[in-house]
This record gives sequence, C-alpha cells and structure tokens, in this order.
Amino acid sequence: MATTVITNISSLVTNDPSLGTGPLGTVQDAAVVIDGDRVAWVGASSKAPATDNRVDAGGRAVLPGFVDSHSHLVFAGDRTAEFNARMSGQSYSAGGIRTTVAATRAASDEALEANLLRHLREALRQGTTTLETKSGYGLTVEDEARALRIAAAHTDEVTYLGAHIVSPDYADDPAAYVDLVTGPMLDACVPHARWVDVFCEKGAFDGDQARTILAAGAARGLIPRVHANQLSYGPGVQLAVELDAASADHCTHLTDADVDALANGNTVATLLPGAEFSTRAPWPDARRLLDAGATVALSTDCNPGSSYTSSVPFCIALAVRDMGMTPDEAVWSATAGGAAALRRTDIGRITPGARADLSLLEAPSHVHLAYRPGVPLVSAVWRSGVREL
Ligand code: NIG
Ligand code: FE
Repeated sequence: MATTVITNISSLVTNDPSLGTGPLGTVQDAAVVIDGDRVAWVGASSKAPATDNRVDAGGRAVLPGFVDSHSHLVFAGDRTAEFNARMSGQSYSAGGIRTTVAATRAASDEALEANLLRHLREALRQGTTTLETKSGYGLTVEDEARALRIAAAHTDEVTYLGAHIVSPDYADDPAAYVDLVTGPMLDACVPHARWVDVFCEKGAFDGDQARTILAAGAARGLIPRVHANQLSYGPGVQLAVELDAASADHCTHLTDADVDALANGNTVATLLPGAEFSTRAPWPDARRLLDAGATVALSTDCNPGSSYTSSVPFCIALAVRDMGMTPDEAVWSATAGGAAALRRTDIGRITPGARADLSLLEAPSHVHLAYRPGVPLVSAVWRSGVREL
C-alpha cells in the first residue's frame, strides 16, 4: 500500500494529549504519515520518515476530519418560505416537518439519493469526513426503510427516526403510530440502521412514548440517541442518560438536574447551534455543560427546516462566539466529541492506527476556524487515506 507524508505542518491537532500540547495534543512543525487508509506516524517534520509520496503543507494547519454526528439528509423539497417567515417574526414548530414529509414521499429513489450525495459532497468540501444521517421524513414503513437504505449506501452512521413526528396519517391515533414505529416499521428498518432516535418534544413524542420507542429499538440491537430539550424543558435528556443513549442532541433548555445527569452519565451532549441560528432560539450553554464535566459534541443538524447548514466551521464559529466555548474546545467537540457521540475511537483523532481522515486549512492554526468565520479555509481533505479535495 502506498505511503504518503504530509510535512511542514505549522500546527497539527491530534486530539491525543500524549502526542503534543494541551487537550488537543497539538504538535508544532509536524508531519503525518498515511499508510493506506490509516495514520501510521505522527511527529516532528524534521524527523519524518521516507515515503512513496510527499505533500508539503507549506506552514499550514492540519486537523482531524470533522465528525458530524447529527444530520437529516434524506429529504426532498424546500422550506425557504418557512425560513423567511421565521426571520419576519414567526416561531419554529415541529409541524414544519410535515412539509418535508410530503415532498420526500413524492420523490423518486434517484432524486433522494442525488440530493443526499450533493449534501455529502458539500459537507466534505468543508472538512467533514464522517457524517451521521437519519430517516424521519417518510413516516411510512416503506418510506422510512427506503430512506435508511439510501443513507446506508453512502454512510456507516445511519439512524432510524420513524419517531420524528406522529405521521399525519395517524393524527387521530398517536398510540397506533407508536405501535407501527415499534412494530412493522422497526422490522423493516433494523437491517439498515445502527441507531434509533426519537424527537422527544411537545408536538412530537412525550417521555413515555419516547421510552417505549427507544426500548423497542434497543431490544433489536439499535443504540439510542435522542432529540432532547430542543424547544422546551422536558424529559428527553434524563431519559437519554437513563437509557445510556450515546447522545442527547440539542440540549437547549436544561435544568440543573439535566446538566448533572449529563455530567455523571455516559451520554454525550450534542449541541447544534445551526438550529438556534436558523430558528432565532436561545443558544445552548456549552460553558455550563463543560464546567459541569459533560462531554460535548458539536454538529450541524443539517436539515431543510431548522438548520440548513452543512458547515461544521460555521457551527464552530457560533459555539465560540455565543456559547462560551474556546476555539480549542469547539474544535475538539467537532472532531473527537462527534466521534464520542458515535461511540467511535477510530476517527476524530490523528494518531497512529486511526483512520486517515484529515483536513489541511488555508491558515496557520485551527483557531482560524472561529477567527475567520464564513471563510472557506479547508483546502485539502483526505478520507480513509484518499485525497478527496
Ligand atoms: O433536529 N428537531 C427535530 N428535527 C429537526 C428539525 C427537522 C425539520 O424541521 O425538518 C431538528 O431540528
Ligand atoms: Fe435533528
């Protein structure tokens, strides 16, 4: 297998404190050797071994590929009008999801797949090398299963979200919809998914329904993750911790007890500031979670309704400016934090043995991701050792 060395890296984020300085394990004047799809060596540029290929980073920064652990990219249609109305003062509600459900059901497999691929390429250009995505805009047995089948063809991290909202077809009988989600729909979806998720919120599913759905998924081998405490205080976060979910996502409205639960459990708090930006909602308080000792991930929530951004750098900039994170913390959360939220140790770090997923920035350090908001700084990306950009 061909080996490649990237030399002359001004600042390398490894996310392994034993390899460098601080929690990001930053190495100055560094080099990285890629062997096949793996990182083989990390060290001083002056000590880099000979390899088949050589890339000169020219005094620019390298960091792990972003791990975007929360998106909704199997969809069709457009909700520009809803965004426009919000920016004129209307509030966001879960009901807008129905617009995308109608458009998604009407779309062909080919159209859904092309749309997914377009967004995956868009994310890759911004440094994302792992992306989780969900069903949730089909809400019939066939439409949920096809969304997951299409997603699974293009990413390893696929989440069954039949419980996004109660299907409009069951508006008069939510209990029957929960039976469907935990019965025939689960049967059809299990083969294509790794995770099970529920939107636990007023207007979607309450705590008891969420518990039933997550437990049914877990009994079939899917690992829970929860849309929790996004639009209001509620039981989602505590339920996520109790069920040992990999992640509680959003965490916008948290009581002290919710923060304590996250700090003392195994569940990662995944913050999605694109949603607060696009719905003009209060920011989640990352500082409070970090100070309490919780593990925090940062992701895009890319979806056509509440957060139509595929840009992790944009989310890093928001988290630093408005959520009390330092640039180092935000970069960790968007790489190693995302990996923790997906229970992965092979990604989100640049260490020997890890998957060779890394980005070269048009900047001397990762801090520029927040310092230069909105600037396309990612100039090269390797994924599984293959140069994609
Ligand atoms: O994570 N919260 C629920 N689901 C999405 C929104 C989906 C939509 O509005 O289409 C979210 O924000
Ligand atoms: Fe979401």
